[in-house]
Amino acid sequence: MSSHERLLSPASLGAWRLRNRIAMAPMTRSRAGAGGVPTSLNTRYYAQRAGAGLIIAEAAQISPEAQGYLRTPGIHGAEQIRGWRAVTDAVHERGGTIVLQLWHVGRCTHPENRLPGTRGVAPSAIAAPGRIFTPSGLLPMPVPVALDRAGIEAIVADYGRAAANALDAGFDGVELHAANGYLIDQFLHSSSNLRTDEYGGSISNRCRLLRDVAARLAERVGADRVGVRLSPFGAFNGAVDDDPEHLFATAIEGLNPLGIAYLHVINVEVSGDRNAAHASVDAVAFARSRWRGSLIAAGGYTADDAEEELASGQADVVAFGRPFIANPDLVERIRSGRPWAEPQRATFYTEGEAGYTDYPAADPIAAI
Ligand SMILES: Cc1cc2nc3c(=O)[nH]c(=O)nc-3n(C[C@H](O)[C@H](O)[C@H](O)COP(=O)(O)O)c2cc1C
Repeated sequence: MSSHERLLSPASLGAWRLRNRIAMAPMTRSRAGAGGVPTSLNTRYYAQRAGAGLIIAEAAQISPEAQGYLRTPGIHGAEQIRGWRAVTDAVHERGGTIVLQLWHVGRCTHPENRLPGTRGVAPSAIAAPGRIFTPSGLLPMPVPVALDRAGIEAIVADYGRAAANALDAGFDGVELHAANGYLIDQFLHSSSNLRTDEYGGSISNRCRLLRDVAARLAERVGADRVGVRLSPFGAFNGAVDDDPEHLFATAIEGLNPLGIAYLHVINVEVSGDRNAAHASVDAVAFARSRWRGSLIAAGGYTADDAEEELASGQADVVAFGRPFIANPDLVERIRSGRPWAEPQRATFYTEGEAGYTDYPAADPIAAI
C-alpha cells in the first residue's frame, strides 16, 4: 500500500472533482505548430500525462502581442482552438481534468519572436534584464512601450476572450499566469512599475491589474473555473520589490473576495533565482495564512514532501513540474513506489518527440 494516501485521494477544487491531488505544473515546451497551433504531438504528450488529477497546460498567449518566445501555443485564433480541442478531448477520454494557463509576457519578448506589427508592452518603459532566444540567437530584450489606459483595457478584454476561447476548446477552466516576472507580475513589482496612475504607485494600485483580470476571467467563465498563479519572493525575469511581504499579502488578500477555484503558489524558482533578502520565507506557508480558498503548492516537491504538505494542511493539491517531463506515468509511480526518471534539460525547449513524448512509462502496458 502506498504511503502517499493523501496525494492519491480525490479532491474537490472549484467546479472540478479531481481523482487525485497530483497536478501537472504548467510547462512551456516550445513545440506548438506554425501559428501557435497545437498539433498531434502536443495531444500525445498531454494524453500520456492524463493520470494527473489536474493538468495545468503550458502558458498560452492571449493575443499575438502577448507572445515572447518561439513556438509557444496561442489561444486567440480559431485554428488554435481547434488544435487544443484535440488535446482536451484526449485528456477527457482518459478521465483527466485540464485547464489552460493564460499568458501575456509583457516586456519579456523580442520583435523577432512576434508577428510583425506587434509591440512589446509593459507597465513602464524599462527593459527586462537578460537575453532571450530568437531566430538570430540570444539577444537582449528591448525597452517596451509603456501601456496607456486604452492599452490596459484592451489587454483585460483579450484575457476575457482567451478564457472564453479556452472553454470553447474544451478546457475545464483557466489559470492566470501572474508569476515569474511576466506582465501581471511586472505590474505588481516596484522595480518594473513606475506608473503614477491608478495602476501604479501604491501597492494596492500595483495589484489592480491582477484583480481586474482575475475578475474578468471569473465573469467570463465562472469563478469556480479560474485559478491564479503567483511566485511570491521569486526574482525571475527581474521581478523584485522593495517590500515583497506587504505586496504579496495585498495581492493574495485582494483575490479572496472573488471566490476563485484556487491559488497556485510557487515555492522555489526553477532557476533557484530568489529574492535574496526573502530567501528564507516559505511562500506556501505565507500564502496559506492569508488565502481563504484552495491552495496548490509547487516547486521542488518529492512525493514525500508533497504528502507532508497535504498532511499539515498547507496545501490542498501539489503540482509537479520537471518530474512530469520524464515520468508520464508519475501518478502510477507514486502509487507503486517505483523510482522516478530524471528529465534531460537539453530537450526542455527543443523541437520534436525527443525529450517530449519518448519518455517511457515504467509499466509498458500503460504506455500510450
Ligand atoms: C521546462 C519548463 C517550463 C516551464 N514553463 C512554465 C510556464 O509556462 N508557466 C509557469 O507558470 N511555470 C513554468 N515553469 C515552472 C514550473 O511550472 C514549476 O513551477 C517549476 O518547474 C518548479 O516545479 P518542479 O520543481 O516540480 O519542476 C516551467 C518550468 C520548466 C522546467
